[in-house]
Amino acid sequence: MNSANSPTPTPPSSTLSCATGRTRILTGDTPTGTLHLGHWVGSVKRRVELQSSHDCFFIIANMHAFTTRVDRAADIRRDSIEIVRDYLAMGIDPTKSAIFLQSEVPAIAELTFLFAMLLPFNRVMRNPTLKDEIKVKGLGETYSFGFPLYAVGQTADILAFRPTGVPVGEDQVPHLEMTREVARRFNQVFCGVSEHAEDGDHPQLGGTFPIPQADVGAVGRLMGTDGVNKMSKSLNNAIFIADPPKEIQKKVGKIFTGRQSPTDPGNIDNALFQYVDAFVTNPARVAELKDRYSRGDNLGDGHVKQEVAQAINELLEPMRARRSIYEGNDGLIIDILRDGCVRANVVAEETLAMVKDATKLAYFPRRLALG
Ligand code: TRP
Repeated sequence: MNSANSPTPTPPSSTLSCATGRTRILTGDTPTGTLHLGHWVGSVKRRVELQSSHDCFFIIANMHAFTTRVDRAADIRRDSIEIVRDYLAMGIDPTKSAIFLQSEVPAIAELTFLFAMLLPFNRVMRNPTLKDEIKVKGLGETYSFGFPLYAVGQTADILAFRPTGVPVGEDQVPHLEMTREVARRFNQVFCGVSEHAEDGDHPQLGGTFPIPQADVGAVGRLMGTDGVNKMSKSLNNAIFIADPPKEIQKKVGKIFTGRQSPTDPGNIDNALFQYVDAFVTNPARVAELKDRYSRGDNLGDGHVKQEVAQAINELLEPMRARRSIYEGNDGLIIDILRDGCVRANVVAEETLAMVKDATKLAYFPRRLALG
């Protein structure tokens, strides 16, 4: 590939590392409200683990929030700041990971336009996650053009960082599949990679993009406290990171199992035991609870719930403490975002330069600095 006429990305003003040569990962969230335990179990826990061994980029997909809430700009701004507060509470360390706003990384919007050419329109509309959202959110036929475009945009969010892995919940896997298709197609159309190449061989065959893998957490979908649906703010069955201890007790107490008596053999595939698996940290205790519950050995739901509530409170205690540092301090959050955007733009601009090379769009080095 010809890189002679690629512009050299501006170094970050930040003193923090952004090109350590470590494996890069990218993931993020649409800011629609504060985070709950489903986010923790499905994705954020994994991010916290990965940040000491990987270069991590976490996107606040604020433009995606406009796809269904174009009339709620102020709410989207509030939710964007709130979600960063939750990330920090949960242990994402801004000195290790870049937390950034989608709207402040222009290369993402530019890549979205180009990638839209690599996907048949009908392929986008067949994306099961999109179809599901249209149904669940009751969008009918009235959704904006920008709504399905967000799925193309998500391929750009990811590929702008040329990551090898994308830690996500199960519901995002269709977006990852589309991202992989875009990456393969780009490498085939513009970089001469053969249609028959194995995914893992794309980079060494000259492809601009590695074909990224979805990295789905052990518990892909945490059930809500209704015991029926996936945990979701809009279904009113969520336990939030910022909930106080009493509230946790109350919500866990409501987890529906349908079991009648402590001597009934219980089903350990129920929602309550998903919580036992996710939050009770001692494996021997988990095994014992499962054994007694399934045999109906005088182990009441109330008792199990008590242990679950306690385990959740132990998990949330340090999160509450960290959250309080950032409470009421939007300025600190905005500084963290500003720094994250600088680091994100270094990588995304480098990708865009490579893309422009490959697509013969590199006419002269880019000079974006306006300030
Ligand atoms: N669609 C994701 C969600 O609703 C958010 C998101 C946007 C994302 N861009 C991403 C997730 C890139 C992973 C990678 O939660």
